[in-house]
Amino acid sequence: MKRKGAFRSKEVLVTGGLGFIGSNLCIELVKLGAHVTIIDNMLPRQGGNLFNVRDVEDKVTVNVSDVRNELSMNHLVKEKDYVFHLAGQVNHVDSMRNPVQDLDINCRGTLVLLEALRQHNTSAKIIFAGTRGEYGSSVKLPVDEDHPTNPKGIYAVTNLTAEKMVLVYDDIYGIKGACLRITNTYGPRHQMAHDEYGVFNWFIRKAMDNENIPVFGDGRILRDFLFVEDLVECMLMVASTGEAYGKVFNVGTGVPVSFYELARKIVEIAGTGKAKFTAFTKEREEVEPGDYYADITKIKKVVGWKPRTSLEEGISKTVEYYRKYKKEYW
Ligand SMILES: NC(=O)c1ccc[n+]([C@@H]2O[C@H](COP(=O)([O-])OP(=O)(O)OC[C@H]3O[C@@H](n4cnc5c(N)ncnc54)[C@H](O)[C@@H]3O)[C@@H](O)[C@H]2O)c1
Repeated sequence: MKRKGAFRSKEVLVTGGLGFIGSNLCIELVKLGAHVTIIDNMLPRQGGNLFNVRDVEDKVTVNVSDVRNELSMNHLVKEKDYVFHLAGQVNHVDSMRNPVQDLDINCRGTLVLLEALRQHNTSAKIIFAGTRGEYGSSVKLPVDEDHPTNPKGIYAVTNLTAEKMVLVYDDIYGIKGACLRITNTYGPRHQMAHDEYGVFNWFIRKAMDNENIPVFGDGRILRDFLFVEDLVECMLMVASTGEAYGKVFNVGTGVPVSFYELARKIVEIAGTGKAKFTAFTKEREEVEPGDYYADITKIKKVVGWKPRTSLEEGISKTVEYYRKYKKEYW
């Protein structure tokens, strides 16, 4: 990675650092010589798992606490150089069943963090992990950052609002913030217990269990699937690019793949499982935005990042990881 030295001996706070993306990021940060502090509340039915950071457990400081806890946050932001904000309510289905909790974690949690920075450390830089869901249904493809934002579910609304908060604190208080609209991401360390979010990893579990992979509708909906190692590299490159602050970036591959094609590839690589067309559940249909793939011209130009992992390679690495550590995730 370019700018590798940027994190050596830096103080880094990762919110949601025991989850899927957060833990992969923490492992890489440790490799780059950063001093990593994690805050994660182990929200039930989400991806928080201590096993995720087992390989670096003696090199990271873990706080099991909540980003909505002002006293914790006021303390934890002090002397940090970077804050990667990944703690969030990420379960799309739960966001509709319990929208007030989603609002509370994703919006109030982000605001408590920003206020802690405003009062205790205005020189830290914050990288916010938002979602492609902020766009809602695509009116043109590929989707660039100027595309209208018409979120389809509460999770996407609260992410869009949190993103705006980060940009307001950048603009008014000079707390440097960069915002990412991340596409569907997959790979090692994702929760594999249920299918309420993280469809790619769920397909992998079904294939590995030699079961039917439920492909909703006719399977032709297009998505842009990103391997987590590429996302981690992207986040680090964004953090170390001065011109990235105050901006919003799409993060994806730009390569459309249908859900049927995805299921077929997973079966081929795992060697087990079978794609099976299934009717949408009502809950799913309500928040399904349809085709999406990202235009990543802006991030390529400003940050110099582009994804490197092919779908086949990403699937192989993911299957290999869960073959080894299945009992920690099933
Ligand atoms: N995985 C994806 O495809 C994807 C795509 C776009 C955006 N994102 C965003 O990236 C971030 C990380 O997602 P992930 O896929 O790693 O999910 P994850 O569930 O694996 O990780 C989220 C972590 O946040 C923690 N958390 C939740 N509420 C918290 C709170 N109030 N205080 C402290 N910790 C809390 C959870 O315990 C969990 O460990 C989320 O903000 C999500 O919206 C993810």
